[in-house]
Amino acid sequence: MTTRTFPTAGEAAAALAGDVLNQIRARPALVLGLPTGRTPVAFYRALVRGIRRGGTSVADLTTFNLDEFLGVSPDQPGSYRGYMERYLFRPVGLGPAQINFLEGTAADPRLECERYERAITASGGIDVQVLGIGANGHIGFNEPGEWLVLHTHRVTLRPETRRTNAGLFGGHIDSVPREALSMGLGTILRARKIVLLATGREKARAVSLMVRGPLTTALPASFLQLHGDVDVVLDDAAGALLGDTTGAAAHL
Ligand code: PGA
Repeated sequence: MTTRTFPTAGEAAAALAGDVLNQIRARPALVLGLPTGRTPVAFYRALVRGIRRGGTSVADLTTFNLDEFLGVSPDQPGSYRGYMERYLFRPVGLGPAQINFLEGTAADPRLECERYERAITASGGIDVQVLGIGANGHIGFNEPGEWLVLHTHRVTLRPETRRTNAGLFGGHIDSVPREALSMGLGTILRARKIVLLATGREKARAVSLMVRGPLTTALPASFLQLHGDVDVVLDDAAGALLGDTTGAAAHL
């Protein structure tokens, strides 16, 4: 796992956007895994600017998003599909045939998860998976707990995760769905390359445990240590505890 730290969140997001842009230019038919949340907004803004400025073609790109809220349809304001349309898909003109998304309103969530796994395999697999990390160490919606699930699956969201997503649902935690569909740890670890963006002091503990802590289901991101090609891009605040792993591990 390599880490790069930048003075500000904006610089970290721009650096990651530059990396992803280079990957798209080098391989226009890239299969790109994508996250949602507050942190990636600056990344998407920088990526859209870069794509427009460089006249980069995204016509051959394929995308897979990590997760979606259960029971939420793409046109509902809080949906992650809506978020992606707003911040990336519409601004760069990605069409429905290029976009893969878990359907939150699927009649049978289990079959929907199986369909998603098959679609990832049929695409040839994810070349570059972009990730964020929760302050509780989750990746995608793989929450801390006693066990982790390998493949795409139905998850129960932790209260802190519902709280951080309240902004998408009018600021009301009670309006945030209690369940979601998410790629599993195995789905994520199958990506050929993983890049992770974390900014802000509230992520510092999770980041330091992810990089140097023990592998534990109490901090799902720690399993990224099993992958051979992970770039972690941070601002100074999120990287603040990287030198202090004993202290961070004591808080597990
Ligand atoms: P955040 O979410 O950027 O909204 O903190 C990150 C994540 O949960 O992956």
